[in-house]
Amino acid sequence: MNKVVLHCENIIKTFNSGEAEVKALQKTTLDVYKNELLMLVGPSGCGKTTFVSVITALLSFDSGICEILENNLSTMSDEEKTTLRGKEIGFVFQSFNLLPALTAAQNVALPLIIAGMKRKIALKRAKEMLSAVGLESKENVKPNNLSGGQQQRVAIARALVHKPHFVICDEPTSSLDHKSGQIVMELLKKITKEEGATMIVVTHDDRIYKYADRIAYMEDGKIIKVEGNL
Ligand SMILES: Nc1ncnc2c1ncn2[C@@H]1O[C@H](COP(=O)(O)OP(=O)(O)OP(=O)(O)O)[C@@H](O)[C@H]1O
Ligand SMILES: [Mg+2]
Repeated sequence: MNKVVLHCENIIKTFNSGEAEVKALQKTTLDVYKNELLMLVGPSGCGKTTFVSVITALLSFDSGICEILENNLSTMSDEEKTTLRGKEIGFVFQSFNLLPALTAAQNVALPLIIAGMKRKIALKRAKEMLSAVGLESKENVKPNNLSGGQQQRVAIARALVHKPHFVICDEPTSSLDHKSGQIVMELLKKITKEEGATMIVVTHDDRIYKYADRIAYMEDGKIIKVEGNL
């Protein structure tokens, strides 16, 4: 049995926006194992984005236990959380969030340069990562001249360039056509297995369920069942 790299127990998160109170996470409990690709699915508003924001320490939570990569979020300072995110976690979103003025290679190199790596080394590493996602011929092309699927592959290269141990993808294929979505998922699956990373993919798209090791179903802020094998 693989090691547990994310342990969540009875997490509660309530949003207070004005008069209304929204119970977004209501005793969410889930373990995720090293090197698995877990899909998190469920109806709109059930708490998926809130959950992945909580486990990556982008959002605080009211009560419960959350341990990620042997870090207990309840006892960490903001600075430690920022370091954890920068070093250990990669994010892929529905909107690719690439900078239009930069080339593909510059976009991928940017997080490394921000983290203090020398520009030349960062660009070399970025180009290796672009090759790994099959875009070696597009290094010097700007995002607007790439297809949606290619832009998402650049965003994946950027999310993985620092070799994170945990990768969170929130609806990574929902703005892509069927074929590009399949290519992106194949790539995410391959990288998870080859790099020994662990991945959570939030999705509505049942055409990509086949790439999951396990599927966790969420409803009303709770994980109601988990299917599949490790
Ligand atoms: N910043 C916020 N302030 C107040 N309420 C919020 C906030 N963010 C989310 N919510 C509410 O919390 C609940 C869970 O939202 P969340 O975004 O986690 O759902 P989701 O499962 O990701 O939905 P979708 O599939 O549409 O992306 C919803 O009722 C939402 O309206
Ligand atoms: Mg969401």
